[in-house]
Amino acid sequence: MTGPAKGRNAAGAEIGRELVIDGRAGMDPSGSEDARRQFRSSLGQFATGVTCMTTLSPNREPTGITVSSFNSLSLAPPLILWSIAGNSTSFAGFQVDDPFAVNVLSADQEDLATKFARPASDKFSGVKVHDGLSGVPLLVGCVVYFECVVAARYPGGDHDIIVGSVRRIFNIGKTPLLFHGGALRTFG
Ligand SMILES: Cc1cc2nc3c(=O)[nH]c(=O)nc-3n(C[C@H](O)[C@H](O)[C@H](O)COP(=O)(O)O)c2cc1C
Repeated sequence: MTGPAKGRNAAGAEIGRELVIDGRAGMDPSGSEDARRQFRSSLGQFATGVTCMTTLSPNREPTGITVSSFNSLSLAPPLILWSIAGNSTSFAGFQVDDPFAVNVLSADQEDLATKFARPASDKFSGVKVHDGLSGVPLLVGCVVYFECVVAARYPGGDHDIIVGSVRRIFNIGKTPLLFHGGALRTFG
C-alpha cells in the first residue's frame, strides 16, 4: 500500500495519479478503511449495466436484489455469473438448482434499481411482473431477461459467486441503465 504517490512503471514512467494497492508488499489491501474506500472507488471505474436478480423464496415469496456484478461466463454451455454479498438478506436464497431470472434494467428503470438495492419485505409492491419459468417474477420493461437455474455456488471472500445455467432468453432490445463511479447513469 502506498500513499498518494505517483505510480510509475518499471522504466520510471508515470502511469497514474495514485498507486493505491501494491500486492508486492504482501499486505492485505483491504487492511484499512481508506484502502477499502479506494479499492471500491477503483472498481467503480469499471462501467457496467444494472440487473435485478429475481427468484422465489422457499415459501414462494418474490425476492429480488439489484446487482452489477453480472457477467457472461460460457457460450456452450450457456452460463452466466454474478456475486451476492454475505450480508444480503437474499444470501440464503439462490441455492443450487433454484430457478432465478436476470432482469437487465432499462434506462427508464432507475426507480427499480434503487428499490431493489434496499433490504425490504415489500420490494415487489406496485411492481409489474410477468410470470417466468417456475413462477419466477420477471420485471416488466427490461432490456433482456435470462431465465436461469443456479448451476453452482462458490465462496469468494465476503461474497458468494453464483453460476447460472441459462434456460430461456427474451431479448427486448431497449436502451440499458448504466452504473459507473458509484452512480446510476444513462448513455449521452
Ligand atoms: C448499482 C448497484 C449494484 C449492486 N450490485 C450488487 C452485487 O453485484 N452484489 C450484491 O450482493 N449487492 C449488490 N448491490 C447491493 C444490493 O443491491 C443491496 O445490498 C440490497 O440491499 C440487497 O438487498 P437484500 O439485502 O434484500 O438482498 C448493488 C447495489 C447497486 C445500487
